[in-house]
Amino acid sequence: MKQELENLQKDFKKAVDDVKDVLKLDEVYQRFFSRKSGEMTNIMKNLKELTGDARKEIGKLANEVKGELEDIYGKKKDELENQKWDEIAQTEKIDITQPKLPKKRKGHLHPMTIVHNELEDLFTSMGFMVLDGPELESDFYNFEGLNIAKTHPARDSQDTFFIKNKPEWVMRTHTSPVQVRAMQKYGAPLRTVVTGRCFRNESTDASHEHTFYQMEGLVIDREISIANLIGTMKELLQGVLKREVEVRLRPGYFPFVEPGFELDMKCLVCEGQGCGACKHSGWVETLPCGLVNPKVIEHGGLDPKEWTGFAFGLGSMRLCMQKYGVEDIRHLHAGDMKFLEQF
Ligand code: PHE
Repeated sequence: MKQELENLQKDFKKAVDDVKDVLKLDEVYQRFFSRKSGEMTNIMKNLKELTGDARKEIGKLANEVKGELEDIYGKKKDELENQKWDEIAQTEKIDITQPKLPKKRKGHLHPMTIVHNELEDLFTSMGFMVLDGPELESDFYNFEGLNIAKTHPARDSQDTFFIKNKPEWVMRTHTSPVQVRAMQKYGAPLRTVVTGRCFRNESTDASHEHTFYQMEGLVIDREISIANLIGTMKELLQGVLKREVEVRLRPGYFPFVEPGFELDMKCLVCEGQGCGACKHSGWVETLPCGLVNPKVIEHGGLDPKEWTGFAFGLGSMRLCMQKYGVEDIRHLHAGDMKFLEQF
């Protein structure tokens, strides 16, 4: 049995020496030490058959050999594992000469969307509902219902795109058509804002576009006054521009308000010095507004003796220009990444 142990010791050492990876090493280990049929396990089992001193002597030797072989196995395993990590470190080196990958472009909201979202948040916080209306409008809602008759000179400044063979349809020239639609649908009292795209036959320059955005506001209630109107307008401008603004009121003419005003704001782009954004006047026409004409209230299906109101039409592109210091309205539709990435 002593001989057997010596042979086994030699075999084990040789087998371990030949091994090149951890898996193979474990196979060797199993061959000698598996509980059922390992060569070393068998010897240990056979010790039972010995008696007396022989049992003592061989038993001791067997235990020494077993311990030694397990040490050899442990060391070899460590060695192979370290070698594996060294190999990985060798092959997966970080190549510091590799050029940096271009940064992925992240999308973001367009400045006009930011302004509209802010406006809608501001007005919903004051109890207004946000409504929508069609861009292709009927002549009635765009003009007639707003007290602009077929022959009215106000139509002149609101020439727009027409649909071939459909003279009763127009691309809406303002968001005001939603005034009458809102009254017809929701009755009174009513507080609503409408943001949306409008169209006019306009020769474009730094402050004019044929396609532009407005936000309409309408409040219908009992005993509405100019003070209500002015208070709301102040809240609006300070809420969006987040700074003190200087304003002035001029009489303004719109057939659907009576009296009507133009609220101008001192140009924030040039601080009133005069620039492209304010047509070199230092003031920007920002907020046409007024008390709702009784005829419009009637078209909305309400009794003008009972109901009064105020309305305003904010040129939201111009407000956006003021907020961000954009000197030309055409930038906002140009789709130029150099411009848009600034927001
Ligand atoms: N709809 C008018 C325009 O586009 C603006 C306006 C709205 C004026 C509401 C008064 C009241 O010019």
